[in-house]
Amino acid sequence: MLRRLHHEQPESFAFAPDNLAWAKAQLTKYPEGRQASAIIPLLWRAQEQEGWLSRPAIEYIADMLDMAYIRALEVATFYFMFQLQPVGSVAHIQICGTTSCMICGAEDLIGVCREKIADKPHALSADGKFSWEEVECLGACANAPMAQIGKDYYEDLTTEKLAEIIDRLSKGEVPVPGPQNGRYAAEPLGGLTSLKEFDSGHTQYNASAQAAVDIGDTVKRIDGTEVPLLTPWGKQSGGEDVAAPKAQPAKKAAKAPKAKAKPAAKSEPVSAAKADAGASADAAKTDAKRPKALNEAREGGPDDLKLIKGVGPKLELLLHVLGFYHFDQIAAWTSEEVSWVDDNLTGFKGRVSRDNWVDQAKVLAAGGKPE
Ligand code: FES
Repeated sequence: MLRRLHHEQPESFAFAPDNLAWAKAQLTKYPEGRQASAIIPLLWRAQEQEGWLSRPAIEYIADMLDMAYIRALEVATFYFMFQLQPVGSVAHIQICGTTSCMICGAEDLIGVCREKIADKPHALSADGKFSWEEVECLGACANAPMAQIGKDYYEDLTTEKLAEIIDRLSKGEVPVPGPQNGRYAAEPLGGLTSLKEFDSGHTQYNASAQAAVDIGDTVKRIDGTEVPLLTPWGKQSGGEDVAAPKAQPAKKAAKAPKAKAKPAAKSEPVSAAKADAGASADAAKTDAKRPKALNEAREGGPDDLKLIKGVGPKLELLLHVLGFYHFDQIAAWTSEEVSWVDDNLTGFKGRVSRDNWVDQAKVLAAGGKPE
């Protein structure tokens, strides 16, 4: 199938504040200079926020990762999990059309979608609430035929059940995901024939359906406020310092190739590469040459760092990723801290001292005019 950007595009895209904080935390998972590795989770979060990936969203993320737009477009257009056109405001329904599901009635389910949503896949229903598509095997073949609706699986479907689910979703309800024919999971329809005793920890629904009910975001757009923002190594964001990667277990560090010793006086970037080489993340966090950073802007939002001559949108974003949002933060940097930031501005090394940001920031922090 040809995958192209939609002919109608929104003017712009921006992450919701909490999604932006989440995205920044993702960047810290990767070694210095390898932030492009975060492309898939960031595209996915943009899709979770908007329902689909627009061109502005793809380019926004490319800017965040300092990637050429074509590289981000290659990823977004390659993977079918990325929706390149608007989807229903309530739900996008993915009907599995592979062997088991096809034998068990997937074509009839597609008939329901054609009748209740739109004749063609990827088209919106008349009320804009739904869209649908046929997808390849979703790995729930023992519960065929099935569909993924939003984030969750609805299994053992019949045409009547699917029609009912669509009607209920349209009214704002979210039917319980999982088997729709009374089965608990994927046991025989006539009941268990062996291992009949449930263990004491069994829940009302099977584990997947129970998690779907507990999380409750089956068809919800994600703005980042739903779950605690956890950094990848489990530290909740909101701390004063931008979190550093967790140190590798000592055993692994011992196996790593011996890194050439560096002069103690030289400041180093806080990166996963460093952690991989066996360096202590705690030591990196207490690096005296690293300026004090914030996890997010103070109340009232960040200053417009682009007022500093030499700082454009990309550099401003990079400064935010490093935890710098305000003129007074930059104005307070010592010469050693300037060196640290100069060394850590991937792709823009040396800009702080070259354009004398500190003096410029002092003027701006005092309410003066930009150069
Ligand atoms: S064939 Fe439909 S889930 Fe595998």
